[in-house]
Amino acid sequence: MNKRLKSFFLRTHQAMEYPRWILPLAIFSTLSLLLVLSLTTLTSPAFPFSLLPPSLSLSPAAVFVESNLHPLPASLLPPPPRLAYLVSGSAGDGPMLKRTLLALYHPHNRYVVHLEADSPLQERLDLESFVKNNTLFGKFGNVAMIKKANIVTYRGPTMVANTLHAAAVLLRTGGEWDWFINLSAKDYPLVTQDDLLHTFSYLPRDLNFLDHTSDIGWKENQRAKPVIVDPGLYMAKKADILRVTQRRSLPTAFKLFGGSAWMALSRPFIDYCIWGWDNLPRTVLMYYANFMSSPEGYFHTVICNAEEFRNTTVNSDLHFISWDNPPKQHPLYLTVDNMTKMVDSNAPFARKFRMNDLVLDQIDSELLFRGKDMVVPGGWCIGSRENGIDPCAVVGNITVIRPTAGAKRLENLISSLLSSEKFRPRQCK
Ligand SMILES: *[C@@H]1O[C@H](CO)[C@@H](O)[C@H](O)[C@H]1NC(C)=O
Ligand SMILES: *[C@@H]1O[C@H](CO)[C@@H](O)[C@H](O)[C@H]1NC(C)=O
Ligand SMILES: *[C@@H]1O[C@H](CO)[C@@H](O)[C@H](O)[C@H]1NC(C)=O
Ligand SMILES: *[C@@H]1O[C@H](CO)[C@@H](O)[C@H](O)[C@H]1NC(C)=O
Ligand SMILES: *[C@@H]1O[C@H](CO)[C@@H](O)[C@H](O)[C@H]1NC(C)=O
Repeated sequence: MNKRLKSFFLRTHQAMEYPRWILPLAIFSTLSLLLVLSLTTLTSPAFPFSLLPPSLSLSPAAVFVESNLHPLPASLLPPPPRLAYLVSGSAGDGPMLKRTLLALYHPHNRYVVHLEADSPLQERLDLESFVKNNTLFGKFGNVAMIKKANIVTYRGPTMVANTLHAAAVLLRTGGEWDWFINLSAKDYPLVTQDDLLHTFSYLPRDLNFLDHTSDIGWKENQRAKPVIVDPGLYMAKKADILRVTQRRSLPTAFKLFGGSAWMALSRPFIDYCIWGWDNLPRTVLMYYANFMSSPEGYFHTVICNAEEFRNTTVNSDLHFISWDNPPKQHPLYLTVDNMTKMVDSNAPFARKFRMNDLVLDQIDSELLFRGKDMVVPGGWCIGSRENGIDPCAVVGNITVIRPTAGAKRLENLISSLLSSEKFRPRQCK
């Protein structure tokens, strides 16, 4: 990984173009992030501090006294990372899935969409033609649909199987990407892709964002001890879960971790899980095949038991989620009442939303600047905006990033997550 990171930064001499006002912000942001990282994490010699000119050496004084700063030479700004998204939905989610996909779209990224096997054929065909019809998707060839739909239920391992399937498709269809992000049609972004690409540019590409703990508490009895039969083995969709009458004790071959089913996983970690040169991901997968709630534990357990990856975990799912108190199985729907808290959380994603809820229109207009049925505009859109015309109808240079206020919010979140109080002390504990 270190070699990869180094060559990655070294081979790059592309500059990103910013509007004038954003450049000072960008530089300041970069430095504050780098400072945070330098103080807390990266002892790795490959991290590109050495690439900074001496005038920008990261003494606190140099960073915090803004007037001391000189613009970073353009050649030192890292290129935007590529994100690979899985967006999946169940019966009736088709329209919402299309909207989420448009809200997440950027030509630099890759997308896999999936409607589970119990959705009506017509709904799947409709999504397929939506993907085929879209001029941008066609032009960049970066949206794929899984046509042989999988059976997905929220209990058991079917969701993990579906997620691993999508990750494998994203590896196979090639294209370089840096992070894999697993979303559902009921999720929605709170920042633009330019904001994400921008902010993630300054992060080591091996970080994995997932909310996790080894303190599985009440879940031990309700989730870890029951043994169930994988419901994906039965084509009758709503079949009852088959339970083994005996309960099993916790495994001793590895330690169990659990947490939120939402995550942003690095390319090296996905390689590790999919290619399987080490037996751990496979062993853990076989254990979770008979587990009540596999998505809330599989990746968490693999990553925290893999010595080479546990130090790359950032304990957050990057989501704003509204749980009932006490938490029930499913989160609450978000509405306009939750808008302020959602924005103040600085999270890049939120869930879950009802189809066409008014709050989505508010997010579109206030946070994403997205027109109805259009993609979110970014630095790559160079068309006219007059009379409600889609500026992305004219495509410019797709590596040009134009961050909005969302980049600042996201940066606040990331800086906090990577602070010395939060980053190391919360890894795999
Ligand atoms: C696209 O923009 C990048 C960054 O500004 C620049 O380095 C690159 O040369 C541009 N590519 C084209 C084809 O203009
Ligand atoms: C795709 O385009 C065709 C021809 O323009 C149109 O008939 C069809 O309704 C479109 N489908 C969708 C889902 O937009
Ligand atoms: C991935 O995303 C889906 C959203 O459809 C979610 O339900 C699932 O639990 C997620 N996580 C994993 C680990 O598969
Ligand atoms: C992970 O961090 C621990 C504690 O700082 C350290 O001892 C260990 O060598 C690190 N592992 C790797 C693979 O870097
Ligand atoms: C979202 O708004 C509802 C209704 O006001 C409220 O009950 C709920 O607690 C809010 N959720 C969060 C996380 O603030």
